[in-house]
Amino acid sequence: MGYLYEAIAMQQRAKRCQQQWQSHYEQCQYQVEQALARLSAASLSVENALEDVWILGAGSLKDIPLAKLSKTFKRVFLVDLVFLDSAQKLSCRYSNVFLVRADISGRLQQVYLQPQQVSLLATPEFTADADGFLRALLAQNQHSSQECQKIRPIAIPKSVTAEQVSLIVSMNVATQLPLIPLRWLKSHTDLTDDFLQNYAEQLLLDHLSILQAFPQSTLKLLVADRLVLDRALPQKNGNYSATEETDPWWGVMPPRADIFWEWEIVPKAESGGKLVQTNQVGASFFY
Ligand SMILES: C[S@@+](CC[C@H](N)C(=O)[O-])C[C@H]1O[C@@H](n2cnc3c(N)ncnc32)[C@H](O)[C@@H]1O
Repeated sequence: MGYLYEAIAMQQRAKRCQQQWQSHYEQCQYQVEQALARLSAASLSVENALEDVWILGAGSLKDIPLAKLSKTFKRVFLVDLVFLDSAQKLSCRYSNVFLVRADISGRLQQVYLQPQQVSLLATPEFTADADGFLRALLAQNQHSSQECQKIRPIAIPKSVTAEQVSLIVSMNVATQLPLIPLRWLKSHTDLTDDFLQNYAEQLLLDHLSILQAFPQSTLKLLVADRLVLDRALPQKNGNYSATEETDPWWGVMPPRADIFWEWEIVPKAESGGKLVQTNQVGASFFY
C-alpha cells in the first residue's frame, strides 16, 4: 500500500532535514523521559516495579530514548508496520527490546483486500479491549521473521497483559493512521467524500479509545501533530505569500496537550523554495 516506500522516503528526508528535525526528535525523547520521571515518582509509593512499555509508531526509533527504556523497564515492545535496517540493528543491541510488526488500527487488511466493503465498525479488541489489542498485535507479528535471530536468538514473549503495561506511548503515529488508507480507498473505490471523512475520524477515534482502554495504572503519552501550517513563500515576480492551516485530526478532539512545539517538517530547501510546512506538535499525558 506504500508503507515501505514512505518509511524509506522519510529516512531520506530525515537525513536531508537533520538540522530542522533534530530538535523535534529531542523534544519527543524528552517527553518520554518526562513520562519515566512521572512513573518513578509514582512507583515510590506503589509496590510493583515498571514492567512493560509499548511504543506505537516506533518506526525509525529516532524519537525514542531506547537505552533508557531498556534500562528502566523489564520489557520494551516497539510496534510499527515497518522497521528499516537501522532500527532493526539498533533494537538488537538490547535483550529486552522486541520489535512487533503490526497494524495498530486492525483495519488495513480489509482496506487492502476488500476496499469496497470497508465499514466504520472496528473489531472490538482494537477499540475497547486492551488485552485483546496486545494479543492481536503479537498475533499479526508471528508471521514476520525476527531479524535479530541472525545476531542472537530472541523469542517474542507470548504472555502479555494490559495490567503489566506501565507506559503506553503513541509516538507521531495517530494522525498518520488515516493517510495511506484514504489514499488507497480513493484510488480503489467509489466511496463518497462523506464516507471517507467519517472513516478517517473513526480511525482516530478508535486509536484514542484503545489508549483509554488501558487500565488506570497505565500512564498514557500521546505525541501527535495538532495543526499543520503551510506558508507559501514570496515568489521573485510578486508578493505571493499565504498561510493555510490544516487540521490533521479531521475534526476529532484529541486530549488537551500539556506542551507544544514546532516541527519544521518541510523546510524551504525541501520544497524548492516554494513553501515552508510547520507542524505544531503536542504531547498529552493521561491516565
Ligand atoms: C511519522 S512516522 C513516525 C515514526 C517514528 N516515530 C519516527 O519518528 O520515525 C509514522 C509511523 O507510523 C507507522 N504507521 C502508520 N500507520 C500504521 C499502522 N496502521 N500501524 C502501525 N504503524 C503505522 C508508519 O510505518 C511510520 O513509521
